[in-house]
Amino acid sequence: MDLAFDRRHIWHPYTSTLTPLTCYPVSRAHGVYLQLEDGRELIDGMSSWWSTIHGYNHPHLNQAAHQQIDQMSHVMFGGITHQPAIDLCKQLVAMTAEPLQHVFLADSGSVAVEVSLKMALQYWQAKGESRSQFLTLRDGYHGDTFAAMSVTDPDNSMHSLYKGFLPQHIFAQSPKTGFWQQWDESDLDDFKAKLTLHHHDIAAVILEPIVQGAGGMRIYHPKFLQGVRRLCDEFGVLLILDEIATGFGRTGKLFAYEHAQIEPDILCLGKALTGGYMTLSATLTTSHVANTVCGGEAGCFMHGPTFMGNPLACAVANASMEILAQEEWQAQTQAIETQFAQQLPLLTEHPLVKEVRWLGAIGVVEATTAVNMETIQAHFVEQGVWIRPFGKLIYMMPPFISTPQQIDTLIAAVHSALNRPECFQSLS
Ligand SMILES: Cc1ncc(COP(=O)(O)O)c(C=O)c1O
Repeated sequence: MDLAFDRRHIWHPYTSTLTPLTCYPVSRAHGVYLQLEDGRELIDGMSSWWSTIHGYNHPHLNQAAHQQIDQMSHVMFGGITHQPAIDLCKQLVAMTAEPLQHVFLADSGSVAVEVSLKMALQYWQAKGESRSQFLTLRDGYHGDTFAAMSVTDPDNSMHSLYKGFLPQHIFAQSPKTGFWQQWDESDLDDFKAKLTLHHHDIAAVILEPIVQGAGGMRIYHPKFLQGVRRLCDEFGVLLILDEIATGFGRTGKLFAYEHAQIEPDILCLGKALTGGYMTLSATLTTSHVANTVCGGEAGCFMHGPTFMGNPLACAVANASMEILAQEEWQAQTQAIETQFAQQLPLLTEHPLVKEVRWLGAIGVVEATTAVNMETIQAHFVEQGVWIRPFGKLIYMMPPFISTPQQIDTLIAAVHSALNRPECFQSLS
């Protein structure tokens, strides 16, 4: 591959043209393996940013894609419908909380979040109330488009860069009680205080249920989420749950809100929706919200992307749903969780480890100091694994099909990185 061209001309996520970092050329992928151009195979501990839950090159997903591409790969969704979208939306309505009856299909996670925020704004507009604020949590992440970024942690997503353009929203402290810890009711104090003060202006609360992903890999107590739902009901504010990272089994439940036995008013899905094959997202809402929105001034929901309901993506998503329906994901994520629960706490003896956290097929090691990306990445590749940390966070979100040996290899690679001072910024 022409890596020199790549380095000179291609922008990778969050990279500099002045000091581009090494990019590893991948030629193919199968099962949990990424194959590099030179033939080396790496166990993927990232599921390509948490999406390829069934692994790469899956025969059932491949077959669905082949079949659909021979029928039609795309057709506009305005005034036209098709079987793959109908099948997918039937599945989504059936598998999510009962009140969620209406599905809006879009292209990416960030757009699903934009759609959810627009739904909430149109809902209040239709009710004759002017509410333009959102309440969310510190350490959250909801995407890179402007509205999604405006409800993402202000420091992590550098709101200062876009000052004057980015809408200002309200941030409550993120929950401190971990998933496996004793619940502390005072965790809700700041959230409650902010909601009490601003509820007349707040269109919706938006947050990631149970796991705050890219904003800090924090795994919090279900009682926090229960408290949020209770307070939203009390103050008459909509609750948007962003399950783009957690949806489709990642936390050991099909949807993370099930840990708290609550239901959202609006739900955002993406990433693993197509088993990680291609980009597709969905925003679901209740009949009450949908019908209120459509009874408003606009008379409809004002959104319609070109590739909305792309048949190819819907067909692959349907195949992914069929694999999930076989329910092996439950035993698989449970086995991965057990392995993380047994092995990650052993790492806390290491002086560079601040904390370890796990839930379902998510394992997190928070270091006391930030990683040196270039050297830790090279080290992981040498160890035959693909793990891409950020800041002080070294985490694993492997495909559900990963074997115990493969998980062992991932954890061993993390352990060996901890013993390499050059893998950490302040030590190298
Ligand atoms: C919780 C959450 N919401 C939204 C997004 C944005 O999704 P996308 O990158 O597909 O736009 C992400 C991506 O990591 C996410 O983790």
